[in-house]
Amino acid sequence: MNTSIDLYAHRGFSGRYPENTMIAFEEARKMRVSGIELDVQLTKDGEIVVIHDERIDRTTNGMGYVQEFSYKQLRLFDAGSWYDSRFSKQSIPTLIEVFEWMMDKKTEMTVNIELKNDQIYYPKLEEKVLRLIDEFDLEDQVILSSFNYDSLAKVRSLHSYISTGFLFEGVSEDAIGKAKSIGAHLHCDMSFALSSYGKKAKQEGLDLRVYTINELNDFLKLQQASVKVVMTDYPNRFSSTMFKG
Ligand code: G3P
Ligand code: MG
Repeated sequence: MNTSIDLYAHRGFSGRYPENTMIAFEEARKMRVSGIELDVQLTKDGEIVVIHDERIDRTTNGMGYVQEFSYKQLRLFDAGSWYDSRFSKQSIPTLIEVFEWMMDKKTEMTVNIELKNDQIYYPKLEEKVLRLIDEFDLEDQVILSSFNYDSLAKVRSLHSYISTGFLFEGVSEDAIGKAKSIGAHLHCDMSFALSSYGKKAKQEGLDLRVYTINELNDFLKLQQASVKVVMTDYPNRFSSTMFKG
């Protein structure tokens, strides 16, 4: 049993605050989680921005694809009111902003940057993200994950040791082989983590980082199964004695 499971706040503390905004990240930090997960896309002018969907419709007061806007245009949208009018001052953060906040807070949290390039091809997204990580000297504090195998293979070809996570859904038979071929760990759901493949993956030295767990019962099963990381929208639901501060 893994008693020191790492808890990552999924899209920040997104159960209580608008997802992928600075307030959601700051509130997660205050909960003393081990890490946060966030999603990145590219604007028209090549800025790395933190937003889950390819379009801004669901989580802002605007409409359209992220890649249709320059960052200057995008930052004007309200990224909080869709969740609650109290958060109307939140805007779509840039990845730079998140890194600056990490420096400012001197936080040791891990940041899991999910490259949202499984629907849209963003030219040079991998290079841009890696360059920024290098500028902030955050190689040992980040994980790059993606549902896009080729993108992770590219990350590995550009950087020999940065931690990566191959994202997939369900009980995949070939996930272990694929992840191993590019030196990635597994970002899986609970069904895989608790399957015989989950056990095999651990035996083969792969970490299991499991998304997205919001119920205590599920968390306890995963703790029993000795997974490394659990991602949750509600870090408040799990006792602080269960994870590292
Ligand atoms: O990175 C884990 C999880 O965030 C993947 O799914 O859709 O929430 O980005 P999604
Ligand atoms: Mg994600």
